[in-house]
Amino acid sequence: MAKKALKQNSKYGTGPYDSLRDYMEAIETHGNVIRIKEIDQDSYELTGFMYKLLDKHGWLGAPSVIVEKIKISGEWVDGPIIVNQYGMAGHEAMAIGVPLDEIEEGEHILNYKRALNKMMEIGDITPIKTTEIDKADAPSKEVILNEDEINILDFPFFQTNPGDNGRFINTGNLITVDPEQGRNVGTYRMQIKGPRKIGISPEKNQDGWKSLMNSGKDVAQAVVVLGTDPIVFAMSSSKTARTGQDELEIAGGFKGEAIEVVKCENSDIRVPANVEMIIEGEIPLNDFEPEGPFGEMYGYMGKPHEETFYMNIKTITHRVNPMFVNQFTGVTRGYVTTPGEAASIRGFSKFMPELRGFHIPIDHVGYLFLSIKKTKPHQGLELAEKFNFLPLGKIVIVVDEDVDIHDTKEVFRTVGARWQPHPGAKIIEDTAGFFLDPSAVIRGRSSRILIDATRQLPEENGPSPYPKLNRELLVEHAPEIFDLVEEKWGHLL
Ligand SMILES: Cc1cc2nc3c(=O)[nH]c(=O)nc-3n(C[C@H](O)[C@H](O)[C@H](O)COP(=O)(O)O)c2cc1C
Repeated sequence: MAKKALKQNSKYGTGPYDSLRDYMEAIETHGNVIRIKEIDQDSYELTGFMYKLLDKHGWLGAPSVIVEKIKISGEWVDGPIIVNQYGMAGHEAMAIGVPLDEIEEGEHILNYKRALNKMMEIGDITPIKTTEIDKADAPSKEVILNEDEINILDFPFFQTNPGDNGRFINTGNLITVDPEQGRNVGTYRMQIKGPRKIGISPEKNQDGWKSLMNSGKDVAQAVVVLGTDPIVFAMSSSKTARTGQDELEIAGGFKGEAIEVVKCENSDIRVPANVEMIIEGEIPLNDFEPEGPFGEMYGYMGKPHEETFYMNIKTITHRVNPMFVNQFTGVTRGYVTTPGEAASIRGFSKFMPELRGFHIPIDHVGYLFLSIKKTKPHQGLELAEKFNFLPLGKIVIVVDEDVDIHDTKEVFRTVGARWQPHPGAKIIEDTAGFFLDPSAVIRGRSSRILIDATRQLPEENGPSPYPKLNRELLVEHAPEIFDLVEEKWGHLL
């Protein structure tokens, strides 16, 4: 029977973790965290460092970084600032509870798959209601700043790219409550506009946007929470919780334990208690402002928004010596993705039984890789077409289940070998596109190509018989060959 949740917590071992702090302590104890004492961000040193780190180690292999002090606008500001905390696949595996002795140094793809298998094992998630704790017990309430005491610019939120329009908070989880969806939690960037004013930038198709608009008043009470634990952050940053589901209850379901929440100072909104900082404020619903530009996830400078929300900050509460997280959007991986990937495979295969794998390679934004167990002709393109609702998949590649969709090179090799552009492709001229796609002329619209790179059957004009792989023939001829080589020649490999 499927195990129902992740809970196995050990504070310094493997997760899931109660807080970002516990997680950071565990991954630092395990290694692969670089500490930098001081860095000058006025000269974009940290941005340059992250590009070089990623050039060297790749998206799934780059270590995390903690910066103790950073120069912003001529001032040295205390951190710690945490960067790329979810990049390394081994860290993701720790976060979702893969036992430490199964996590191997340098085996990034394997660690990612271990995390995915763990997520598949736990099956469908049953939401767990949050539990409220007393303010006095909430770490995020150790320091309370009211209106005149607040200057958001005092904290180490900085400009990541010279093309960005100033300093941004870029890992804030916005919490709103509306009559239709209840509590909504979503990660959106927030441009700092003044000592007590920040932009709030959900795209117009996001639940966060709808939640704000549905609050039906002139002003919405809203809260930005910073430094949530890895699972809450993943739920806030993805569509794993469906519209109308409470991300905190789904996070509790994943963890096997209720998320502890605390009441806000200025409203009845309940937010995660074990976090680094809580920013409470009011968002006018009939007044919008321009925002951006900002270096986006495709790795290109985005277009500015003509109008988006802003928040007037009323109260900030935080831990003593809070930690800050900076996301280098388009440079590093932003959150643990295996819970969402597992939920997609489980959810879609209920009405697409041939589906075996679903993977959005986030270091190749724009692609969607699907693997299937093909049982009849034309199934590849038919299945690809069912994903037209997903704006992120501009290039959809379908392969047979023997292809490893977590190995992009293998997918591309398979396309080269098994795909005939005619009739194995379909172009859709105009469909929903991703808002941030730098190639789109109209924001949110796109064309799309579906590529069926499965072995084509004779009914699809494929070769008959289909040629075998050389490696397959070798194993058929000598089934023990790889064990034998390992035993005799493993020391040379
Ligand atoms: C670091 C980070 C920053 C993000 N910034 C934005 C943003 O500015 N605007 C946006 O619409 N989505 C942004 N996203 C994606 C959303 O968080 C994601 O689509 C989420 O599902 C939105 O929540 P919602 O569905 O409840 O609206 C960001 C994600 C991450 C990880």
